[in-house]
Amino acid sequence: MHQRSDAVVLFGVTGDLVSKKLFPALYELTRRNRLDVPVIGVARSPWDDQQLVTTARKSVAEANDEIDDETFDALAGNLSMISGDYADPTTYQRLAERLRGAERPVFYLAIPPAVFGSVIDGLATVGLAARGRVIVEKPFGRDLRSSHELDRTLRAAFDPERIFRIDHYLGKESVESLYAFRFANRLFEPLWNSEHIDNIQITLAEAFGTQGRAGFYDTVGATRDVLQNHMLQVVALIAMEPPVTGDAEAFHDEEVAVLRHIEPLSPETTVRGQYAGYRDEPGVAPGSETETFVATRLNVNSKRWAGVPFYLRTGKFMPGTATEVVVEFKQPRQALIRAEDGTRTAANLLRFRLGRGDGITMSIQAKTPGVEVASRPVDLSVDFGAALGHRQEAYERLLDDAMDGQQLRFARKDTIQQEWRIVEPILDLPGHIQTYDKGSWGPADAVALAGGWHPPALR
Ligand code: BG6
Repeated sequence: MHQRSDAVVLFGVTGDLVSKKLFPALYELTRRNRLDVPVIGVARSPWDDQQLVTTARKSVAEANDEIDDETFDALAGNLSMISGDYADPTTYQRLAERLRGAERPVFYLAIPPAVFGSVIDGLATVGLAARGRVIVEKPFGRDLRSSHELDRTLRAAFDPERIFRIDHYLGKESVESLYAFRFANRLFEPLWNSEHIDNIQITLAEAFGTQGRAGFYDTVGATRDVLQNHMLQVVALIAMEPPVTGDAEAFHDEEVAVLRHIEPLSPETTVRGQYAGYRDEPGVAPGSETETFVATRLNVNSKRWAGVPFYLRTGKFMPGTATEVVVEFKQPRQALIRAEDGTRTAANLLRFRLGRGDGITMSIQAKTPGVEVASRPVDLSVDFGAALGHRQEAYERLLDDAMDGQQLRFARKDTIQQEWRIVEPILDLPGHIQTYDKGSWGPADAVALAGGWHPPALR
């Protein structure tokens, strides 16, 4: 068992990620008695401790219906601020002074990748890297080459087992449910292959745009923002073989093994889109060709999956917000029973809802009422929240794990490098962008890509 971290340092504490995700996570950990250590915010903005506490309270209030004052006061009592430039050595000297009593601080880099190098050097120079853990946000680099470089920078200062690479989809209970579904149930195991499955569709749709992050988003785009990481993690969980044991290394070994079977994506079977009006947003470069939508076909060339297309689709300003995996089974071998109108019955579908209201819906054929023996689809559905109760938020679990030194829910270096290898051919394709209307499912070519695409069930 690794020893728990005894201080948390948030670089980029004035940013969006901290206020949306990390303050609520720290509050929740405090409420569960998992956090009672100094939490130090670092940023260039000249904030004082009071501003930090006020911002933390606001973000906790936004994430919760009501705030438990005793819990918040306990968190606030641990919060303090250091304002300083990331390139200025005195920033790190002040931090080292503040962390004098901490033996295993954890450093969360919620900062633009361009300043990673300065921060890592700064921490190393004052001796903090040698005894700390570091959490790095995705995207991890911009492509395969830069991800190797970033890795070298991190490893020059931190031991490999003290580097935590976030892909928050790995921290989501709804995503982890895929793993439990696959390996805790015998029911579907014999069917989980190309013999019985026709195709798999994975959709990450968002009804909103860049939410004030256009300046960042424009340098990234949908492929680097979610396809390379979140969506490929979901592919891996759906497609992987059972790990040898339940530990982190065995899990990551199988993840990498299945990713290695995936062919690099092809521009020919990829549609990149940009919503109308994107180029007028503040922060977006004139004439930007950054994609806010991408749909692609992925092939897993393994014994289990050869011949089963995986269709991936993600976009901003879609008709609704939903993350889903739809597994479409093959039709019965004999078309004995027909639909009411005499046509072939629809295929069975297994729909994993991974976003809000997560759960599973299975679409099966059932006999229609009346003398005719015909059938139509009906749904068997479970809502995990209703069936199982409250689940934890991803960032709360991830911070908790990193403080314990647990790697299971973090992306391994070779996983990330496989992910870059897969997406590399579709990064930045000049002239390959199609405009789509806000509130549509993206360019028409994308719908055509997957013959019978099943849009997410919007609620
Ligand atoms: C983030 C992306 O990693 O994931 C965002 O940067 C995206 O653009 C988000 O909106 C989606 O995560 P979730 O948990 O809301 O599905």
